[in-house]
Amino acid sequence: MQAWVIGNWKQNPATSHDVNVLLDDLLVAVDAEKQAAIEVSKRCTLMVAPSCIHLAAVNARLKGSSILSAAQDISAHSASTGAYTGDCSAQQVADTGATWTILGHSERRQYHNESNDSLVKKLTHALTQNLGAILCIGETQAQYDAKQTLDVIDTQLSVIKDLLAQQPDLIASLPERLIIAYEPVWAIGTGKVPTVAEVSKTHQHIKQKMASFAEAIDSMTVLYGGSVNADNADSFASDPMIDGALVGGASLKAESFLMIAKAFSSANI
Ligand code: 13P
Repeated sequence: MQAWVIGNWKQNPATSHDVNVLLDDLLVAVDAEKQAAIEVSKRCTLMVAPSCIHLAAVNARLKGSSILSAAQDISAHSASTGAYTGDCSAQQVADTGATWTILGHSERRQYHNESNDSLVKKLTHALTQNLGAILCIGETQAQYDAKQTLDVIDTQLSVIKDLLAQQPDLIASLPERLIIAYEPVWAIGTGKVPTVAEVSKTHQHIKQKMASFAEAIDSMTVLYGGSVNADNADSFASDPMIDGALVGGASLKAESFLMIAKAFSSANI
């Protein structure tokens, strides 16, 4: 199975100049690997999610490369246009050349009160505009301590059940166009990580839960996110339940991002 390593740049870098430096480094390194016939991208899909302001420029530079791109969010209000100040729609994102969007990241849930209802709308808009969706789920430290991880995840995954109840026609697109990213909130940007065994067990649960919604989604791609770096990527990559990584901080340097991709690509041979 193809692995996925996705860089969530969040509200970084600060300037277009710095975006270009990061892209230069990424494109040169990916090209060097191609020349050396160790094409990471053959066994591991690489994707970056720049902030919305940089998305079009990033896509212009990624044209012709094997690196895909995603938005970090889309509007819940309209799939196309409308009086929604500050929003970017799925259609506008797709028009830049992006083919995916992250949805439901814990930072959106925390700072923008993102609810399951709005996520069902966003998922519908993304999928009907042919954007794939990377749906983020995960428990807080308090929920982890209280051993509520699987309950929290079940509640968050119920958006897929609601989506299928409202939009049954979308079911056929889900295996190709939906990825789940399990990101424990307490592991994001903290350097703390769950054990590989814990992640593996949670991913197994997620895959089973998704399969319980519909037969068509019985082999869901599930990524791990939260303090993944060049040093710990091998251990996550070695577990067959972990199909890749959603990377924050370590995706802002081409070297560490590609080391993570290599870990998943080698594990996938
Ligand atoms: P870090 O890799 O910086 O912990 O961030 C993870 C994340 O939130 C990716 O979406």
